[in-house]
Amino acid sequence: MKLELQNVVKRFGAHTVIDRVSLEVDGVHCLALIGPSGGGKSTLLRIVAGLEYPTSGSLALNGRPIEYHDDALLRHRRSIGTVFQAFNLFPHLTALRNITLPLEKVHGRTAAEARELAEATLGRFQLLNHAHKRPAELSGGQRQRVAIARAIAIKPQVVLLDEPTSALDPEMTAEVLELIEEIKREGRDLLLVTHEMGFARRLADRVALLSEGRIAEFGPPDQVFGAPQSEITQTFLRRVLRY
Ligand SMILES: Nc1ncnc2c1ncn2[C@@H]1O[C@H](COP(=O)(O)OP(=O)(O)OP(=O)(O)O)[C@@H](O)[C@H]1O
Ligand SMILES: [Mg+2]
Repeated sequence: MKLELQNVVKRFGAHTVIDRVSLEVDGVHCLALIGPSGGGKSTLLRIVAGLEYPTSGSLALNGRPIEYHDDALLRHRRSIGTVFQAFNLFPHLTALRNITLPLEKVHGRTAAEARELAEATLGRFQLLNHAHKRPAELSGGQRQRVAIARAIAIKPQVVLLDEPTSALDPEMTAEVLELIEEIKREGRDLLLVTHEMGFARRLADRVALLSEGRIAEFGPPDQVFGAPQSEITQTFLRRVLRY
């Protein structure tokens, strides 16, 4: 994946949430975004996803500028997979229908094509037994794996994940992290917001720490976690690694 951010600013009213962020990665298969709560990680991810407009600045993904107007944005959104923290499945639909519905309504697949894609994806993640259950009948980990299956059913090159395990207990976290690792192994690129530092260190080839809307640290994981340069990073890591 190639991702270029140039002087990206996002303000909500008088509040500057992303403050002139510039970043360029190329040939990276997993970029992890870490940092303290409120630092702007989700906002930045949503801007890359095309779900939020930057106030100013420019972004390009895989050499193509992200154009922040309706038609182009719709195409951009459709081309990537996104997974959020939790509760992003339709509660009244089965796991299978949660996957087939957007394939039909958003991606223009026929019902038969959608079903085939959805079943293949669920099958690959050992979720076929749960295809006809509604979210409330699934464990948290199963629910999040269905959400990930939905995001990648369209076979996107780039998948954006925002704290996909933060609502899960440790055992469920493990099964979801394994799945994310598998997605990476099959050649998809990840932009991952996570508080799982060990996972970020193992999976990412670049890590950026976002604090108060600015990138306080950027580099390969061994450098960011092993020899952080900025005091913000040192304080953050001390705090999150204490437990
Ligand atoms: N729609 C919005 N309107 C106003 N302020 C917002 C909006 N979305 C986010 N913010 C503010 O922007 C700042 C950054 O929020 P963001 O959700 O990006 O942080 P984060 O790094 O993802 O935090 P966390 O780790 O807790 O998820 C916060 O101060 C938040 O209150
Ligand atoms: Mg967030």
